[in-house]
Amino acid sequence: MHLIWLWLISFTGLALAVNPHRLAPSRLKESVVPPKQWKKYSSYPADSRIELRIGLVQPHIHVLENHIQEISDPDHERYGRHLSKAEVEDLVAPSEESTQLVNAWLKSFGIEDANTYRTPAQDWIVVNLTVSVAEKMLDTSYNVWKHDDGDLIIRTTSYSLPEYLVDHIDLIQPTTMFARFSNIKATVYSSNERALGQTNTGYARDLTTLTPSFDSQPNCNLTVTLECLQSLYNTVGYIPGAHSENSIGITGYLEQYANQEDLKLFFADQKPGVASPSFDVVLINGGMNNQSIQQAGDEANLDVQFALGLSYPTPGIFYSTGGKPPFNPDSNTELNTNEPYAKWLDYILSQDYPPPTISTSYGDHEQTVPENYARRTCQRFLELGARGVTLTFSSGDEGVGDGESDPKFQTCITNDGKNETRFLPVFPSVTSVGGTRGVPEEAVFFSGGGFSNYPQFTRPWYQSHAVDGFLKKLGEDTYNGLFNRYALCCILNYHQAYPDVSAQGLNFRAFIHGNPYLISGTSASSPTFAGIVALLNDARLRVGLPTLGFLNPLLYKRGMEALNDITIGNNPGCGTSGFNATEGWDPVSGLGTPDFRKLEKVVMEYEVSKNL
Ligand SMILES: *[C@@H]1O[C@H](CO)[C@@H](O)[C@H](O)[C@H]1NC(C)=O
Ligand SMILES: *[C@@H]1O[C@H](CO)[C@@H](O)[C@H](O)[C@H]1NC(C)=O
Ligand SMILES: *[C@@H]1O[C@H](CO)[C@@H](O)[C@H](O)[C@H]1NC(C)=O
Ligand SMILES: *[C@@H]1O[C@H](CO)[C@@H](O)[C@H](O)[C@H]1NC(C)=O
Ligand SMILES: *[C@@H]1O[C@H](CO)[C@@H](O)[C@H](O)[C@H]1NC(C)=O
Repeated sequence: MHLIWLWLISFTGLALAVNPHRLAPSRLKESVVPPKQWKKYSSYPADSRIELRIGLVQPHIHVLENHIQEISDPDHERYGRHLSKAEVEDLVAPSEESTQLVNAWLKSFGIEDANTYRTPAQDWIVVNLTVSVAEKMLDTSYNVWKHDDGDLIIRTTSYSLPEYLVDHIDLIQPTTMFARFSNIKATVYSSNERALGQTNTGYARDLTTLTPSFDSQPNCNLTVTLECLQSLYNTVGYIPGAHSENSIGITGYLEQYANQEDLKLFFADQKPGVASPSFDVVLINGGMNNQSIQQAGDEANLDVQFALGLSYPTPGIFYSTGGKPPFNPDSNTELNTNEPYAKWLDYILSQDYPPPTISTSYGDHEQTVPENYARRTCQRFLELGARGVTLTFSSGDEGVGDGESDPKFQTCITNDGKNETRFLPVFPSVTSVGGTRGVPEEAVFFSGGGFSNYPQFTRPWYQSHAVDGFLKKLGEDTYNGLFNRYALCCILNYHQAYPDVSAQGLNFRAFIHGNPYLISGTSASSPTFAGIVALLNDARLRVGLPTLGFLNPLLYKRGMEALNDITIGNNPGCGTSGFNATEGWDPVSGLGTPDFRKLEKVVMEYEVSKNL
């Protein structure tokens, strides 16, 4: 396969040589086999424009990684000494030489500064250009690709760079990336039709034992409300006091708008006595904010209502980021935008004071995101961590599987050209939150969990003990070949195994379009956990301590004394029963669900050393 590609590339390279820069021999940078749901559809329309995102090589990135390791390790004397925006930007900046070479290359194709965006650190250059120019620059050809569900995107399956740029450019997208980040919410049920008999996601079969009446006691057993979460996760009686410094962010994509009117109804239902709850809205990349109640998004409302409800009166910020398929190949003017996480990261990293806690419930299968792009995206999340921001992500609603149909019939085929059967992990995660159900809590069957298949995502230092413990219990021969068991341990901070923690995920009572609905999914779990983290940040801020930032090392070192270990449940997929929840960390429920008062005690132990 690779040999054939190389031959094709060098052949076209010779045939197209026109520009002096192009005379430099070009080298294949990346090639992929697209996921099987994507089929080549047509050539792209003349004058189609694309936004290429060029990631320059970062010579000092390992210094940043060392800093993060120290300042997020509760046993290190530098714990909590977050870096400033300027310090982080210095450490992710490219070399002067890389910048100059890439600038000259862009100029040689007539690309002017007016059509480029550069991140403050200059580590990413985003250029707006026609697809035909992009083809010449990257020695490739683009096509329109169609997903089985009808979405269209412009992509290529490989690209090359001039030899002299190969060591200066880490990656360029969109080229080979077929990811379509979607919201991780599983299912919305109207509240009087509770979950019975619904099978469209293939897991409702497990819900038929529930009776369709509401609990008389707020115990989260049948319906999850603020009141039951506050009691289950032990926040009752804690009144946040650091409103002026603290805030909680909720990301929204794909034209999901959080509705202020629905938030008021939700508070009236579950937190009465608050006069007029509201949140701020930030619009990014053409994102919109239609407050017509019919336009309220279920995902956006769920996330905002529970994150804000749990952390009230901590101020809330909803980020509405634009940019998504469908792309219309008949329109000559439309810009085929990149994936929206990148746009959100451009925005949030350029802010002086991002919120200390931010929850995201959107993701895609890891295998649709090229490894180097996944790594660079994780690095950007960690830049936020180094600056004191905790990021929670839903772990996915497909167990270990691909979510395509009944887990018994899932194929879970890799798209690396080998068509192997493998568990399909979700991307991205920073602090990854899986799902639980009921009281006493058990892991919910859809809770996404497992192991990254990317070798670069070797087990981070803080995680190896917990994960090795689980693998020992699992046994050498279980699921051989289905997941990446043998990743080497090292000090990198990227995720290898997930989720890290969990929270309730079944039958959340949220308000949408003016009515109560029941919503299930780890989409509910992430804002719930984030709401608790916002309270922990509050506790630290009110006594002048820095925020928690990248949370995982603290969770893995001290979590066992402050989280409720979940030991029942499993997450089926790919024709298997998935992993089992066990004592200690497991790839279904992570380390467990939060006990706020115990976590508060833990996080208040750590002060900042004044002698450094
Ligand atoms: C891209 O460039 C074209 C031509 O200069 C311009 O019309 C368009 O507004 C630009 N789009 C973006 C998103 O910058
Ligand atoms: C907002 O949504 C409503 C209802 O769908 C629609 O009638 C209205 O035109 C939209 N407003 C804007 C500014 O798009
Ligand atoms: C993998 O499956 C695709 C069709 O889904 C097929 O075209 C390809 O040849 C297969 N590759 C291998 C190595 O079996
Ligand atoms: C929740 O429901 C289960 C199953 O019906 C039951 O065994 C358990 O006692 C209930 N828990 C509470 C707190 O009511
Ligand atoms: C999960 O637990 C069940 C019941 O104890 C057991 O039969 C099964 O083998 C376990 N599966 C794994 C993957 O550990």
